[in-house]
Amino acid sequence: MSGSMIHAEGLTKRFGTLTAVDQVSLDLEEGEVFGFLGPNGAGKTTTVRMLTSLISKTNGTALVAGCEIGREADELKLRGRIGLLPENVGLYENSSAYQNLEYFGQLQGLDPVTLRRNVERLLRTMDLWEKRDAPVATFSKGMKQKVAIARALVHDPILIFLDEPTANLDPEAAKMVREVLLGLKKEKRTIFLNTHNLDEAQRVCDRVGILRTRLLTVGAPRELEARMSGNRTVVRLDRVSEQVVRAVEARVGSGRVEVSGDQLLIDVEDADRQNPAIAETIVAAGGRIRQLTQLSTSLEEVYLKLIHEEALPA
Ligand SMILES: Nc1ncnc2c1ncn2[C@@H]1O[C@H](COP(=O)(O)OP(=O)(O)OP(=O)(O)O)[C@@H](O)[C@H]1O
Ligand SMILES: [Mg+2]
Repeated sequence: MSGSMIHAEGLTKRFGTLTAVDQVSLDLEEGEVFGFLGPNGAGKTTTVRMLTSLISKTNGTALVAGCEIGREADELKLRGRIGLLPENVGLYENSSAYQNLEYFGQLQGLDPVTLRRNVERLLRTMDLWEKRDAPVATFSKGMKQKVAIARALVHDPILIFLDEPTANLDPEAAKMVREVLLGLKKEKRTIFLNTHNLDEAQRVCDRVGILRTRLLTVGAPRELEARMSGNRTVVRLDRVSEQVVRAVEARVGSGRVEVSGDQLLIDVEDADRQNPAIAETIVAAGGRIRQLTQLSTSLEEVYLKLIHEEALPA
């Protein structure tokens, strides 16, 4: 399968009078790691439950790993293609790590040879092979989470949904899980990651979406930051001269340059492309550059602004 892994249009879920997810349209490409952000109660888990066909949708359509959500004939095919780490993982505490994976693989209908091979590979990847026969009850939270992730992967799904895989883990265990995610990314699997951890989203996700019942925005973390900071280049000079200001204005257009003390604030459309030219222009006009930076907004600022204002950036 190539191309689109998720194509959702107007996906909506109502619980009685409460609209939990409103008109979400979303596309995920194969191999993409997508971060789904939003405050408590935003509808992230509900969206994942609809996309994995655990609950029915109220409205809209979704094609997930080539299967149509809500179409009974596609149900089994979908189960084989996707993996899910749910919000509240239930492992069999008295069974061993091996048995937990084996049981789940059997439920997925894997043949015994493939099953044994996959279970061993996953337990080794998760660094749990030596502990494979110990009851899961004796494991730390981080180790249990790794078993749960392995369980979601035992049937080799092409699309993986992870609902807050690092929640409630200490920094070291969270790092362990993130490394597993980066490994999956290297294997070119498509990952849909619900998270509250913006730093994590920034580090592992190609794109993120911010949800608050409605999908407020979608884009690469850097793109969202740039959109929000209005793309301003800040140049600090030894001294700002009239000549330098005029030269920069001639280059980027008048009305785009503002002087503030020894700094020039310049509106740019494409910083990567324009900054070198701006630097050259300043130097040619006799200016001496001390520092050239991009006025930046962190993903956290983007997130907080959006979920509070609920306004889309231009
Ligand atoms: N089975 C249900 N019946 C009624 N309401 C529900 C049900 N499941 C979820 N909701 C409601 O839907 C809304 C979205 O919940 P959801 O669990 O999807 O949020 P979330 O973004 O995953 O939040 P969190 O970050 O806390 O996990 C909430 O208002 C919740 O109370
Ligand atoms: Mg949730």
